[in-house]
Amino acid sequence: MAKSRINSGPYARITGLGRYLPPKVVTNHDLAKLVDTSDEWIQSMTGIAQRRFAGEGETTASMAVAAGSEALEHAGVDPLDVDLVIVATSTPDFPLFPATACLVQDSLGLNRAGAYDLSAACSGFVYGLVNACQFIQTGAYRTILLVGSDVLSRSLDFTDRSTCILFGDGASAAVVQASDQPGGMLSFVLGSDGAGAEHVIVHGGGSRFPLKSGEDNGHSPYIEMNGREVYRFSTTVPTAALEQAARDAGCSVQDLDLIFAHQANIRILQTAAHNLGIPEERFYANMDRYGNTSAASVPLALYDALEEGRLQPGALIGFMGFGAGLTWATAIWRWQG
Ligand code: ACO
Repeated sequence: MAKSRINSGPYARITGLGRYLPPKVVTNHDLAKLVDTSDEWIQSMTGIAQRRFAGEGETTASMAVAAGSEALEHAGVDPLDVDLVIVATSTPDFPLFPATACLVQDSLGLNRAGAYDLSAACSGFVYGLVNACQFIQTGAYRTILLVGSDVLSRSLDFTDRSTCILFGDGASAAVVQASDQPGGMLSFVLGSDGAGAEHVIVHGGGSRFPLKSGEDNGHSPYIEMNGREVYRFSTTVPTAALEQAARDAGCSVQDLDLIFAHQANIRILQTAAHNLGIPEERFYANMDRYGNTSAASVPLALYDALEEGRLQPGALIGFMGFGAGLTWATAIWRWQG
């Protein structure tokens, strides 16, 4: 488990947030028409009531562009001042290249920016935040656009009731800038356990089992998941990493005002709160509206919390991403407002 503590400026500051949610709302009742499930089962087992699905013409890049555009406007940043764009995603527009980040860079006119995609599944945004902070804190870059965007609905098996009810589509973006104002990232922990790779996986379509047009190679192009194992992992490893990050920042999880965790399942967050000995409300939750939006879920939570007035300047917050890989990423952050 890699960890680091950072103490001095320049400080990273989130100066703008943006989001894009496809207009198409899919309720649990809609899914109950496709598979043998019910609104009652899904809500009680996951906390999800509805999610958005991308429509025709909507892609990871198009959603990232919309979210990124709002974040840049919110931050009041000129596109030509952006040094780098990072797109965290598991569902790039194209399977090999170009990177989705290059499409975003072009569409938003970020003509001075470098661009790359980051693949860490549902931990992607927090991994990306750590990436962005390294460039800022070393003084290399001053303005970075970080986007989490995923269209997982196109990788769902709508005959598998244990997975198709969990996911939704969406994008959210943050502008991360250099600041003299103390705060931002105080510590982070990045982790991976590839021994758990099989627990959440899409087997077909990569270099191991390429999918050729019109051919069935026997390997599913859809998400396959061992729910029990993922649940076990999600309720233990990321919380230990959050405690580690808190220790590295010189505080404890009890000191955190709000935690922005990956929005996979309300029961995971309730169990995490219980295990950490903190009230459930400290874990911000909005999966009831959007489902699991993978790389977009943590910044979508941040966006909604800010909009609801739950995020005040000076707040000490935790980030907790976890997902396929297996991967996890936690960080302690002082919100400068
Ligand atoms: N509707 C009704 N019944 C269902 C459904 C459904 N949608 N899905 C599964 N079931 C049934 C199963 O068939 C099984 O029935 P059986 O006992 O007759 O065989 C029963 O419910 C229990 O199934 P389990 O899979 O053992 O249920 P579990 O208690 O593990 O709950 C769940 C399933 C909610 C998916 C849980 O395992 C979970 O939340 N895991 C975490 C998964 C997750 O969040 N993944 C996100 C992707 S990875 C990430 O983001 C970290």
